[in-house]
Amino acid sequence: MRVIFFVQKLFCLFILITILIIIHINMKRTVQIEFFKVWKKSFNANTTKYILLWTSPQTVPFSDMGEGQTGFIKRNCPHVNCYVTGNRTYLGDIKRFDVIVFAAPQLIGIINKDLPTERSLRQKYVFASIESPENYPLLSYKLNNYFNWTWTYKLDSEVRWGYIVIRDSKGNIIGPKKEMHWIKLQDMDPVSKDLEKRIKSKKKAAAWFVSNCFSASRREEVAKEIKIDLMKNYHVLDIYGNCGLFSCSKDKADECNKMIEDKYYFYLSFENSLSEDYVTEKLLIAVQYNIVPVVFGGANYSRFLPDGSYLDARKLGVPKLVEKMIELIKNPKKYLEYFRWKNHYSYHKTSESVETNEYCKMCSLLNDDDMMRRNSIYDDLQTWWNEPDFKSNVVYV
Ligand SMILES: *[C@@H]1O[C@H](CO)[C@@H](O)[C@H](O)[C@H]1NC(C)=O
Ligand SMILES: *[C@@H]1O[C@H](CO)[C@@H](O)[C@H](O)[C@H]1NC(C)=O
Ligand SMILES: *[C@@H]1O[C@H](CO)[C@@H](O)[C@H](O)[C@H]1NC(C)=O
Ligand SMILES: *[C@@H]1O[C@H](CO)[C@@H](O)[C@H](O)[C@H]1NC(C)=O
Repeated sequence: MRVIFFVQKLFCLFILITILIIIHINMKRTVQIEFFKVWKKSFNANTTKYILLWTSPQTVPFSDMGEGQTGFIKRNCPHVNCYVTGNRTYLGDIKRFDVIVFAAPQLIGIINKDLPTERSLRQKYVFASIESPENYPLLSYKLNNYFNWTWTYKLDSEVRWGYIVIRDSKGNIIGPKKEMHWIKLQDMDPVSKDLEKRIKSKKKAAAWFVSNCFSASRREEVAKEIKIDLMKNYHVLDIYGNCGLFSCSKDKADECNKMIEDKYYFYLSFENSLSEDYVTEKLLIAVQYNIVPVVFGGANYSRFLPDGSYLDARKLGVPKLVEKMIELIKNPKKYLEYFRWKNHYSYHKTSESVETNEYCKMCSLLNDDDMMRRNSIYDDLQTWWNEPDFKSNVVYV
C-alpha cells in the first residue's frame, strides 16, 4: 500500500516538473523574441547613422543634402536618422562614420595627397557621381578594391542618382532597369481622341534646347547635320538657348514646354556625353509632354523607353533619321502610334516622391542591416566606371 502511494507521488511530481519545464522553455522563448524585437526596434529607430562627405560638401549634388539630419527631415524621408557632415573630426575618429562619400569629379585631384589614412572594415566607402565618366574618368588603379558602394546614375549602383522614374498605370515603379519587360507595341491600347486632337496643332519639325554648345559627345555636329537635312526638305530644327536663335525663359519652364508641345513634332534629347545609362532630364521633357523624343546618347535606350516611342539618332544615322521624321510628319496616323505607350506608363522625376528620392534612399540603405553587414567591394572600378577606350589612350596616375 505504502509503495503504491509512493509511486503515485513520484509520478505526480514527475508530471509537475515536466509541466514546469515546458512552461519555462516557452516563456523563455517568447520573452527572448519580445526582447529581441524591442532591441532591434530601438536599434533601428534610434541609432544615428553618420555620413561623412570627404570631398567638398558645397558641391552639387551634396550641397542639397544639408548639414545633419535636415535634408532627410525636410524631404519627409521614411528614415531620418542619418547625420551628414563634412567635418572629419566630428566623431573624434573617422573610423566611427558609417559611410564616407567621395565625389568622383574631385577624386582624381586627391588620390595622392588626401585620402583617409585609416579605415574600419565595417564602414562603407562610397564612390558618388552624377557626372559621366566621359567628362570625369577615373584614371587611376589605386582605387581598385577601395569602394564598397557606388552612388551614381548607373542602373547597377547601390544607390542611384536617377533623373528618371518610370511607373506603370497602377503607379508601381517599374524602371528604368537593365532588363525591362515592356508591353509590346501591338498589345498597347490605341491613343485617346483627346490626344489625337491635341497633336493637330503641331506645325514644325523639331526643337532643341541647349546651353552648352560644345560637348564631349559632339551632339552639336549631329544636330547641325539634322538641321541641314531637314532644311533640304523644307522643314526646320529650331535651336533654343545659348547656341541658337530662339529663346524661352527658364523661369517659365512649364509654359515653354507647353509651347514646344503645341508646335513641334520632335524634341531632341541629346546627351552631352556618350556613357552607359547616362540619360538625363532632357528625356523627361519629351515624355512628360506630348512630343516624340529623338535620342542621342550612350545608353541602351530600351532600358529607358518603350518600343515604338522614340527615334534613336545614333542607331539610325542622320539621313535615315530625317527620312523617318518627315515620313511621320506626313502621316499623322503613324505619328500618333508613338504615343500608345502613354496608356500604360508615365515618367517622373526621382525627387518627386520619397520612395524614389536619392537622398532618402541613401538613408534607407544605411538602415538596411543586411546591406550594411554584407561585405561588398568594387574590385575593378575602372572597368565598371570608365569608357572602354580610356584604357588605351590616356595616362593613369
Ligand atoms: C527613439 O527616440 C525618440 C526621440 O529621441 C523617442 O521618443 C522614442 O521613444 C525612442 N524609441 C525607442 C524605441 O527607444
Ligand atoms: C568639427 O567637430 C568637432 C567635434 O564636434 C568640433 O570641435 C569642431 O569645431 C568642428 N569643426 C568645424 C569646422 O565645425
Ligand atoms: C538592351 O537592353 C535590353 C533590355 O532592356 C536587352 O534585351 C538588350 O539585349 C540590350 N541591348 C544591348 C545591345 O545591350
Ligand atoms: C569595404 O571595402 C574594404 C576594402 O576593399 C573591405 O576590406 C571591407 O571588408 C569592405 N567592408 C564592407 C562592410 O563591405
